[in-house]
Amino acid sequence: MPRDSLTITDNRTGQTYEIPVEHNTIRAFDLRRIKTDPEDFGLMAYDPAFTNTAACKSRITYIDGDKGILRYRGYPIEQLAEQSTYLETAYLLVKGELPKPSHLKAFDQNIRHHTIIHENIKKFIDGFHYDAHPMGILVGTVGALSTFYTDAKRIFDPESRRIQTHRLIAKMPTLAAFAYRHSIGMPYAYPDNDLSYTGNFLNMLFKMTELRYKPNPALERAIDVLFILHADHEQNCSTSAMRGVGSSQGDPYSAIAAATAALYGPLHGGANEAVIRMLMEIGSKDKVAGYIERVKAGEIRLMGFGHRIYKNYDPRAKICRQIASEVFEVTGPNPLLDIAIELERIALADDYFISHKLYPNVDFYSGIIYQAMGFPMDMFPVLFAIPRTSGWLAQWIEMLQDDDQKIARPRQIYLGPDERDYVPVSERPE
Ligand code: ACO
Repeated sequence: MPRDSLTITDNRTGQTYEIPVEHNTIRAFDLRRIKTDPEDFGLMAYDPAFTNTAACKSRITYIDGDKGILRYRGYPIEQLAEQSTYLETAYLLVKGELPKPSHLKAFDQNIRHHTIIHENIKKFIDGFHYDAHPMGILVGTVGALSTFYTDAKRIFDPESRRIQTHRLIAKMPTLAAFAYRHSIGMPYAYPDNDLSYTGNFLNMLFKMTELRYKPNPALERAIDVLFILHADHEQNCSTSAMRGVGSSQGDPYSAIAAATAALYGPLHGGANEAVIRMLMEIGSKDKVAGYIERVKAGEIRLMGFGHRIYKNYDPRAKICRQIASEVFEVTGPNPLLDIAIELERIALADDYFISHKLYPNVDFYSGIIYQAMGFPMDMFPVLFAIPRTSGWLAQWIEMLQDDDQKIARPRQIYLGPDERDYVPVSERPE
């Protein structure tokens, strides 16, 4: 009779243990029963980079990396990208269900109501050096928001969580746009709450002397779809930072600052910038084959390729490829696209990439689109952080309501020196 358990025999002692299996997982803590003697601490699992450890149970995002499936709260990403808006998707992530029409209207109004930032925040931004990276400015200013909203510390009060959620989703584009305007020496453009979420973001970035900024509807929709694609991706590096910092029960602004900092790195939110640099380094289609040889020799990595979870085409990359052609109809083509398509063609037919299951990820095409829209590369990770804020908040709220969770505290295998006596510096040999 099959049972939902695992039988483990410890060959050190000959003892046998039965460990329950639930959701195809064993509880790592059950391993602690496995001891060589009563004084023994018990067995642990060693899993650097958490490649095979579930740190939570979640009902937010489902990924099947082998099949290339991504769903938010059960809805396929392809359907959301085609039919939803970023704000509706943010509602879905944070609240768990698609909104009724009246709820969507109220949510939209709440977000518009919170787009303005305190004037003092402008003073911090002014204090950054003229060429400060906007992502660095974003990390600093979003963390600083916690000092303006002291009620944010009441993390177990649902009403406080609701307001901080609205504030964060609303203010991230404003902080991001102000960071950008600072970096190019332009006066800040205040929010125009008659525009959509993404239309207003474009207004705050690109408004010049005109009385009212009118976003191009195709570009406004393209950014909205890119925001939907980037809204959540379950337990990645920045979301783990959000949960890890949030688990100490600090306020959400500080946790979002940590998550934004995690997203800053080139292996995570900085990858699309690395893709553009790589395409510029390659320079032309005829150099692609030679570049691929260098990748295969282990000299360099093909940026925008490979993923910890997807061992198939990243479904978001497919949608990005479609958006690219729609955007180029408005902006004119990005010459780097031809090199990217050639790179993808050669790589997908090459044994190295096939055997390593390396396919384009979301970052492979997103940078090319952002560049064609006129964004400088420094803004790419910022464009990722804005929509991911709703995913981070959804994961944070879920964690706070999960009775299984407590402060995150991994174990280690200590391999350093055994106990030894201190020797004063004067007695130590040179
Ligand atoms: N180019 C060439 N080889 C690669 C690449 C790549 N982009 N990615 C992985 N590999 C190879 C590794 O060399 C390794 O080969 P080996 O087993 O022969 O030594 C094997 O594939 C496994 O690689 P790991 O680094 O162990 O895979 P991991 O799951 O840790 O890494 C990562 C995932 C970081 C995304 C990696 O694929 C990578 O560096 N890609 C380029 C950066 C990038 O595009 N990041 C964006 C990720 S998506 C996002 O954050 C939104």
